[in-house]
Amino acid sequence: MDNRLFFPATQRNKNSIKEVLSKVIQKNGSILEIGSGSGEHGVVFQKCFPEIIWQTSDPDLVHRKSISNWIDYEELNNKMPQPLEIDVEKVPWKIPLKLAKSLQGIVSINMIHVAKWDCTISLFKESGKLLKEGQFLLLYGPFKLGNKHISQSNYFFDNSLKMQNALWGVRNIDSVSDEGKKHGFFQENIISMPANNFSIIYRKVSRFK
Ligand SMILES: C[S@@+](CC[C@H](N)C(=O)[O-])C[C@H]1O[C@@H](n2cnc3c(N)ncnc32)[C@H](O)[C@@H]1O
Repeated sequence: MDNRLFFPATQRNKNSIKEVLSKVIQKNGSILEIGSGSGEHGVVFQKCFPEIIWQTSDPDLVHRKSISNWIDYEELNNKMPQPLEIDVEKVPWKIPLKLAKSLQGIVSINMIHVAKWDCTISLFKESGKLLKEGQFLLLYGPFKLGNKHISQSNYFFDNSLKMQNALWGVRNIDSVSDEGKKHGFFQENIISMPANNFSIIYRKVSRFK
């Protein structure tokens, strides 16, 4: 049975995210993706960066089945591990020792606005425990700048999120980065992306090792 899901946004944003990743990914080790969704990003990035191991994860079983099917479909079973069940709030995250040892970065795409604020806190807290000095956490999605929406479409999107769940919503970059600081992350770069999105690169700083 084909359980692959197709998320239209992934087709639109995969190339621009790949460009950002190509500037931060080193040619060895593993990347842990949090909230991998359908798995379409995972297989694309695994193929773009064959020297690393792309480890997907998602708390949702339907999404994990889709990810597994995408791995099969793209014939990446010999390269890519099966998705992990990670809910950022269920700490500590259960990750294989091999992954912990080889980890070079953590990526989360379009996750923190469809989860409560506590999930952002947990994401930084657990990432801060797993990552070493100089390693990165990359967030991608819509964000507010100076607590203001950067477009009318983001404003409408934010309202639609809040109608689905009052605790969801487009986050303010400064608030996210302030939270990151508490867990040892320095905001290295904010990159404007197509369709009113941003990539934010955080680096783990030494004193929090
Ligand atoms: C909008 S989808 C984005 C999926 C994928 N990253 C993409 O860009 O297509 C949000 C994803 O975050 C996951 N998610 C929601 N709450 C989460 C949590 N507490 N911990 C980890 N992932 C979560 C959902 O299951 C879903 O797969």
